Amino acid sequence: MSVLLAGKRLLITGIITDASIAFSVAKIAQEQGASVVLTGYGRMSLVERIAKRLPTPAPVIELDVTNPEQLAGLSDKVREHVDGLDGVVHSIGFAPQSCLGGGFLDAPWEDVATAVQVSTFSYKSLATACLPLMGSGGSVVGLTFDATKAWPVYDWMGVAKAGLESASRYLALHLGKQGIRSNLVSAGPLRTMAAKSIPGFEQFEDAWADRAPLGWDLTDTEPTARAVCALLSDWFPATTGEIIHVDGGYHALGA
Ligand SMILES: NC(=O)c1ccc[n+]([C@@H]2O[C@H](COP(=O)([O-])OP(=O)(O)OC[C@H]3O[C@@H](n4cnc5c(N)ncnc54)[C@H](O)[C@@H]3O)[C@@H](O)[C@H]2O)c1
Repeated sequence: MSVLLAGKRLLITGIITDASIAFSVAKIAQEQGASVVLTGYGRMSLVERIAKRLPTPAPVIELDVTNPEQLAGLSDKVREHVDGLDGVVHSIGFAPQSCLGGGFLDAPWEDVATAVQVSTFSYKSLATACLPLMGSGGSVVGLTFDATKAWPVYDWMGVAKAGLESASRYLALHLGKQGIRSNLVSAGPLRTMAAKSIPGFEQFEDAWADRAPLGWDLTDTEPTARAVCALLSDWFPATTGEIIHVDGGYHALGA
């Protein structure tokens, strides 16, 4: 039986625990026939331990997306494991505490700059670092949280996500001639480490539980990961600059 990602070579960032969206993406991608290389940030021994829980243990390359040397060396490090890339997953976000939880009016520029560098600019940095390995048919996929609205407590992370959504459209514009697509999945709230660092995150949880037309499981990253895998596959060959919502339908509702 043919599988969705047979023969695809993927670079997946953003695993820190087995609750990470990226863990679910890597698991499903392997189940669907892909070869997966991971990148990890900070706590490398933890990421390596989590990587062993995948159906096939995957190699892990250290990558801080704000580190120019690591970005410059990334394609050579990836080549030690695979001879090219068909897809890249950006599953990275970070904002200092001052930027979240209602501090919008007081957060200093240095902290906002960090949020934007890690959560927005890095989408472009990661894609260009991988370009030497990618050809026509390649797919870059990132994760957003609906940035068309101002949410309580999301503050500057919301601004960073609005930038990410725009950056994905510009990446689609600039990489289209090379046959490379750029798309985002807009997920509903999920109880990951990144989510736990947002003071007041339970407000999202309650809103989704009450209102999402299809209902919403805060601990199930699989629907989001499946959408990421679909966008990495050959089944969206003419789709780029797009945002697919995986949020139980919440975005479709009025106030
Ligand atoms: N959890 C949610 O509710 C939710 C909803 C929508 C979108 N998202 C997005 O999904 C993506 C993945 O987050 P998650 O919820 O799985 O949380 P997570 O905490 O499991 O993953 C976030 C990852 O970002 C990585 N990271 C932070 N700074 C980095 C840096 N400088 N260089 C490289 N990596 C760095 C962390 O190591 C971690 O692996 C993020 O973009 C997040 O904003 C999350």
